[in-house]
Amino acid sequence: MISKEIREKYLNFFKERGHAVVPSSSLIPDDPSVLLTTAGMQQFKPYFVGKADPMKDFGSFNTASIQKSFRTSDIDEVGDERHLTFFEMLGNFSFGGYFKQEAIAYAHDFLTKELGLTIQYVTVFEGDEQVPADDESARIWKGVDSFVEIKKAGRADNFWGPTGKEGPCGPTTEIYIANTEIWNIVFNEYYCRSDGTLENLKTPGVDTGMGLERLAMVAQAKQSIFQTDLFEPLLSLLSDVADERKKRIIADHARAIAFLISDGVRPSNKGAGYILRRLMRRVIAYGYEAESILQRVVQLYGMPYSELKEDVILQEFRNEKEKFQKALEQGVKEIEKMNVITAPVAFQMYQSFGVPFEVTKEFGGTRAQSLTRDDFEKEFAKHQEISRAGRERKFGGHGLLLDTGELKAANEEELKIVTRLHTATHLLQASLRKVLGDGVRQAGSDITAERTRFDFTFPRKLTPDEIRDVEQVLNGAIEGDLNVEFREMPFEEARATGALYSPKEKYPSRVKVYSVVDEKTGEVFSREFCGGPHVGHTAEIGRVKIMKEEGVSAGTRRIRAAFL
Ligand code: ALA
Repeated sequence: MISKEIREKYLNFFKERGHAVVPSSSLIPDDPSVLLTTAGMQQFKPYFVGKADPMKDFGSFNTASIQKSFRTSDIDEVGDERHLTFFEMLGNFSFGGYFKQEAIAYAHDFLTKELGLTIQYVTVFEGDEQVPADDESARIWKGVDSFVEIKKAGRADNFWGPTGKEGPCGPTTEIYIANTEIWNIVFNEYYCRSDGTLENLKTPGVDTGMGLERLAMVAQAKQSIFQTDLFEPLLSLLSDVADERKKRIIADHARAIAFLISDGVRPSNKGAGYILRRLMRRVIAYGYEAESILQRVVQLYGMPYSELKEDVILQEFRNEKEKFQKALEQGVKEIEKMNVITAPVAFQMYQSFGVPFEVTKEFGGTRAQSLTRDDFEKEFAKHQEISRAGRERKFGGHGLLLDTGELKAANEEELKIVTRLHTATHLLQASLRKVLGDGVRQAGSDITAERTRFDFTFPRKLTPDEIRDVEQVLNGAIEGDLNVEFREMPFEEARATGALYSPKEKYPSRVKVYSVVDEKTGEVFSREFCGGPHVGHTAEIGRVKIMKEEGVSAGTRRIRAAFL
C-alpha cells in the first residue's frame, strides 16, 4: 500500500465517522510556546481549552488532519531505523464529541480492518501519585480485542503534555506494531500548569498522533522508514554515498529543509531560522549533490504539498552554501596544513569554524586515521577543566564563605550581592537567547561581588543594538518582578522539562531545576539546571548593565555585567 493511499484511507475513515478534515497548519506555529509545529494538536489547542468553538469553525466536535511536524529533539537519533526531524502526523481529535471508548475502537478498526495490520501490543498509563492508573482504557481494549496484550507504563511513555510549559495534557494509550510505536492516543483530561500542577479540563478531549512514515514502514513490511516509498526515491539518488547513516541524514534533512523554507523559515542565527541553518550546514558539509535531492523532494511531495516551490528552495540553499562554504573551506585549509589531525586540531575546527567532528575526520582522510571521538570528547572536557582550574587558582584557599566554582563571596554582604548577580546571570542567558537565538549556550561563568562574567557560544561580535536589546529584555524581566522557584527531581525528568544544562558536565542522579516564571501569564522566562543560591523575586536584583562584550576564542563571546 503506497503512502498516498494510506493518507487517503486515513482521512476518509474519519470523515465517514463524522470528522471534519482540516488542512495541515504551517510548520511555523501560531502557538508561541513552540518554535516549530511539533504535533497535530497544536492548531487545535484553543478548542481543547474551551477558548474556541469547534461547531462554529468546523461544524463538528471532531476533526482529522495530516500535520506537517518537526521535532528537534530527535535530531541526534536521525540515521537509525525510525527517527526523523520532519514528518507527517496523522491525527484525529475530539473536543467534547467522544472520549476513550470511540477513540480506542476507531484506532483498532483503522489499523486492523482498514489496513489489515496486526497489533503487537498496547500500553496504558500505570498511574502515579498525581494521576490514577488508566484502568478504563485497559477495560476498553479488552472489549474491542480480547486477545490484545496490554502493558502498563509510567509518565515518560504514557502521559502526554507540554514540557516545562502550559497546555492540555493527560494519560495516553500507545499502539505497537512490529516493535514500533505507531500511534499515540492522548486523553486530554487536564490542563498542565508550568509548575507541574494539574487542573481538570471542563471538557475532556482526544488528541491522537501517528507518524505516516512509521505506519508506511509496517504497512509496507519494511525494516526501516527509509525503505518505504516516502524515502526510497531519495535514497536511490544517493547510491554513491557509502555510509547508510549519512544517506539517511541527507534524505531526512533535505525533506525538512524543503518544507521549512516553503513555510517561510529562512536560515538565521535565531529561533527556527537557526534550526534550518544547522540542517543546511550539515548537508553542505557532507558535500553531496544536495540540490538534486531537494528537487526530488519537490517531485515526490508536490502532491499533496503544493506549497513546495523548487526555485525558492534551491535559491535559499545556494545562498546558505555560499555563506558557509567560506568558513568550511578555511577550516579545511587549516586541516590540509597538518600532517596529523589530532584531537586538539579537531577541537579547534569545531571551536573556530563550527565544523563537526565527523566532517574533520572525513576531510582528514588518512591523516586523521588515529583520531577518535573519545579523544575529541576528552579534549573538549580538558578545555572546560582548564578554565575551571584557572578560576580556582585565582580564588583558592582564601577563607571564602561561598565558593561553588562559579560563585565566590568572602562574607555575608558579598554573599547577598553574588546571589543577586547569579539570578541576573540566568536572566542574561535567557535574554541573549531571546535576542540572538537558541544557538547561544553558556560556555562558562564567574561571579564575584564586583560583576558577573558570562561566556557563551556565538559566532561574532554583538552590535550595539543587540547589546541594548539584551539589556532591555534583561531589565524588563527584573522590573517584572518574576518569581524564582526551584524543584529537585531525577536527572531525566529535569531534562524533559527543557531546562538548559551542560551536556559535558557530570550531574548527580537528582538535580535542582531553577525557573524564573511570570506568575501573571505563566510564561517561563528562564529554566536551568543549577545548585543556587538565587533571589526569590527578580525585583530584588536591581538594574543591571552590560559593561563589556568581547571575544574569548573563536565562536565564544564574553560579557561582563554589573549593577549600575
Ligand atoms: N500529541 C500527541 C503526540 O504528538 C498525539 O504524540
